[in-house]
Amino acid sequence: MHIRYETPDDIDAIHDLTSTAFRPMAYSDGTEAEIIRKLRMSGDLAISLVAEEDREILGHVAFSPVTIEGVHDDWFGLGPISVTPARQRQGIGGALIARGLELLKEMGASGCALIGNPDVYGSAGFSSDGRLSYHDLDTRLVQRIVFRGPAPSGALRFAPAFES
Ligand SMILES: CC(C)(COP(=O)(O)OP(=O)(O)OC[C@H]1O[C@@H](n2cnc3c(N)ncnc32)[C@H](O)[C@@H]1OP(=O)(O)O)[C@@H](O)C(=O)NCCC(=O)NCCS
Repeated sequence: MHIRYETPDDIDAIHDLTSTAFRPMAYSDGTEAEIIRKLRMSGDLAISLVAEEDREILGHVAFSPVTIEGVHDDWFGLGPISVTPARQRQGIGGALIARGLELLKEMGASGCALIGNPDVYGSAGFSSDGRLSYHDLDTRLVQRIVFRGPAPSGALRFAPAFES
């Protein structure tokens, strides 16, 4: 399995993978695959990585710019992220996250934020101190990893592609 940037040939496979991975999830609203297309079209798909094995796309992760209290300040958001159901819990998601964080650091990002299950993202270094918020969501689900500067505080907002 190796991780690389997406190419135009991967676009349909990423769409199908994302739809399939999110379909069984109770928290999914079914828009995740379309969000990736919108990010790509609007120029907000800052990093898009695929995990590939034997020319099959097994996993994908997207990173896009976010604002905190209305300011960009080189923070990025992680997601959507998907691993094909038969290959989940084998380290593919963790490897995609680790590579994406490395690339963000190389780009000079200040940090990365996400909405998700702390059990999945804690080992990658994400945590919540309760000071980053997303609408009225439980702040334990609003996690971040700081690369430089102070830990952020305030309202997290994702790129327009995430607005329904
Ligand atoms: C979330 C997802 C991308 C994780 O990918 P993965 O390849 O299964 O993850 P990994 O095997 O690399 O595991 C990474 C960590 O997450 C944990 N984890 C993975 N799936 C989990 C689950 N369903 N519940 C709790 N913890 C989970 C692993 O135990 C591991 O933790 P550790 O490093 O402390 O041992 C994958 O399960 C998926 O595609 N889910 C459906 C789509 C989705 O829900 N995306 C995320 C929305 S927030």
